[in-house]
Amino acid sequence: MRLEGKIAIVTGGGGGFGEGIARLYAAEGAHVVVADMVAAQAERVAREIGGVAVTGDVSLGADVQAMVDCAIDNYEGLDIVVNNAGTTHRNGPILDVDEATFDRVYAVNVKSVYWMTHAAVPVFRKQGRGGSIINISSTAGIRPRPGLVWYNGTKGAVNTITQCMAIELAPDNIRVNAVCPVIGATGLLEQFMGQADSPEMRAKFVASVPIGRMSTPEDIANACLWLAEDSSSFITGILLPVDGGRTA
Ligand SMILES: NC(=O)c1ccc[n+]([C@@H]2O[C@H](COP(=O)([O-])OP(=O)(O)OC[C@H]3O[C@@H](n4cnc5c(N)ncnc54)[C@H](O)[C@@H]3O)[C@@H](O)[C@H]2O)c1
Repeated sequence: MRLEGKIAIVTGGGGGFGEGIARLYAAEGAHVVVADMVAAQAERVAREIGGVAVTGDVSLGADVQAMVDCAIDNYEGLDIVVNNAGTTHRNGPILDVDEATFDRVYAVNVKSVYWMTHAAVPVFRKQGRGGSIINISSTAGIRPRPGLVWYNGTKGAVNTITQCMAIELAPDNIRVNAVCPVIGATGLLEQFMGQADSPEMRAKFVASVPIGRMSTPEDIANACLWLAEDSSSFITGILLPVDGGRTA
């Protein structure tokens, strides 16, 4: 198994891409902390994969610290962190996004990385066996579409933070990479589309993906598996599109 004995936290692990990542990590032998703001979802996934659930909001420092503490308390260590939990404003004109929504999107998508860095990096350093941090970014941070301006900005920030962190933490053998999915049919789909889900709307988005389909949780999980395992030990600071060629 590719992650035998490794200890991982997956934020937003209660649904969507995060659930797919948590499932594959567990199937590959990892001990998984499923962290989600919705307790029932975190508990369902943790129960089904044999992991542990922790409920918390990634925009709050104390909650993120509790996610790391949960890994230490249950599994006595930490090897992998997937900063996956994210949110967006509804697709629409720049001026339609109010301040509270702007602040929330930045807090969940960007400040969460700040909090997780503060909680996890001291643990990685103390253990002295390196670590892998994987930030779930987006093609939106590489090749943005109109209508999601402020959300796209958060993913641009995540991409820059990923590259800077990779350089700064390389001497500790802590690797930091981003996975950049193209649109997928998760809980955020209608927000990204800005309209009700329909075959016509899906076809419009799929038309810009050369391979001709949306991304799936399995696609994202497979990329996250490689970036977590030892075979990618020389890979750090990359922004890996999982996008069927959309950003090529
Ligand atoms: N779905 C897409 O098209 C798409 C494309 C590119 C990138 N992404 C990114 O993928 C990541 C996962 O999104 P998804 O599409 O699976 O969405 P989703 O809504 O299906 O799942 C997100 C999960 O995170 C949890 N969550 C949300 N906010 C949280 C918070 N503040 N604290 C803790 N948990 C929280 C939710 O309860 C949910 O279980 C996000 O970072 C998103 O920006 C999604």
